[in-house]
Amino acid sequence: MAEKLGIRPLRASEAASEALKGARYLVLGSPIYGYSVLPEMEDLLSQCGEIIKDIPTAAFVVCGDTLWNPKAGEGGHRNLVKLTDLLPAAPFATAVLGGRMVMDQLDDEDEPRIRAFYERIGREPTGFDRMELEKVDPFVAEIKQYLVSGV
Ligand SMILES: Cc1cc2nc3c(=O)[nH]c(=O)nc-3n(C[C@H](O)[C@H](O)[C@H](O)COP(=O)(O)O)c2cc1C
Repeated sequence: MAEKLGIRPLRASEAASEALKGARYLVLGSPIYGYSVLPEMEDLLSQCGEIIKDIPTAAFVVCGDTLWNPKAGEGGHRNLVKLTDLLPAAPFATAVLGGRMVMDQLDDEDEPRIRAFYERIGREPTGFDRMELEKVDPFVAEIKQYLVSGV
């Protein structure tokens, strides 16, 4: 996404207020882990709210459950709201993107959590690949459109 927009990607943990100050726009993205936004993104937004409140912001989440149904509890809509609720102003563009979970790549903390989750729901701990790369171009186009026209 950053490459397509020609912007500098920063990890939430590195994006201190100095780096954000004066930005023309921001694209904030977070995975959903255990029903929450990445803790580093929560920290960043709680520290930088004042600085970013006037910077136009697009927001997206990457998650396992992408279903767009406001009534479906933890589906994509709820996942996105968890991020947008932390923003000081409404984003000008949003996206819910399917992600992937590769069991071999989970760290020592996540692996047992995820195995316990699969056991609870009575499924094999297979992980999943629901990456929706095809949604990236339309989202990037929406951001570029906003930058050109302001709507
Ligand atoms: C520990 C853990 C907890 C997760 N919890 C959720 C969740 O509550 N809801 C959801 O939709 N996806 C959940 N996922 C799936 C991740 O959002 C998905 O794998 C995402 O692509 C991870 O992004 P990353 O590859 O950038 O880390 C979880 C994944 C992990 C590893």
